[in-house]
Amino acid sequence: MPETQFTPAAGRFLPTSAYDRLLALLTREATWRAKLLEALAPQPGECILDVGCGTGSFAIRVKQSEPNARIVGIDPDPEARSIAAAKAQAAGVEIEWLPGFAHDAANFGQFDKVVSSLVFHQVPIEEKRAGLAAMFKATKLGGLVLVADYAEQRSWLMRQAFKIVQSADGRTNTQPNADGFMERELMRICGKPLDAVWGLDTPTGRISIFSAIRANR
Ligand SMILES: C[S@@+](CC[C@H](N)C(=O)[O-])C[C@H]1O[C@@H](n2cnc3c(N)ncnc32)[C@H](O)[C@@H]1O
Repeated sequence: MPETQFTPAAGRFLPTSAYDRLLALLTREATWRAKLLEALAPQPGECILDVGCGTGSFAIRVKQSEPNARIVGIDPDPEARSIAAAKAQAAGVEIEWLPGFAHDAANFGQFDKVVSSLVFHQVPIEEKRAGLAAMFKATKLGGLVLVADYAEQRSWLMRQAFKIVQSADGRTNTQPNADGFMERELMRICGKPLDAVWGLDTPTGRISIFSAIRANR
């Protein structure tokens, strides 16, 4: 996939305008987003970057829960960013929505916390590597990196469920996640095993949350 291309939020066959409804229907969204927000624990004055912010649902929640934090959302898709901007305006919150890929994350400055949700399962393997590395680079030393995504699908049932996502986003990009790529790459970056701090079986596969502190190296 050339650097300027990306899989859009709702996959290859459905419009981005359908994404929010699909997500609510197929991912037990309220449960995992609440857990991700709890793990992020935004504080007044913090700068937080949402990588692959899509239609903005998570970034808006973060800002609503901590109005005195600065929130920046990056995504390569102008349509997703424009939906996000309209939702933020309707919610009365100010968020910076900027064009960018995960591998660009470190070009936006240094953040106290860098988060990403449901992005890495749908990007090529080189971008999984470059994007995760850039998320760590964009995080201040001692800051928090949080990733929520479909990672290793350990049970037969969750592997079957994940096929729904694979048919929408393509097998080439999604299969490495099902086979444990995220766990291995996060272990490589952090220099130690990084088990998911939380996981949820959903109708479209297991969603895991990984949490890491950017270490002094
Ligand atoms: C499934 S959506 C998730 C959106 C949002 N994070 C959420 O939790 O609802 C995936 C998003 O990743 C974006 N995306 C695709 N390739 C990307 C890349 N290489 N870097 C950053 N974002 C990417 C898509 O445009 C899309 O908005």
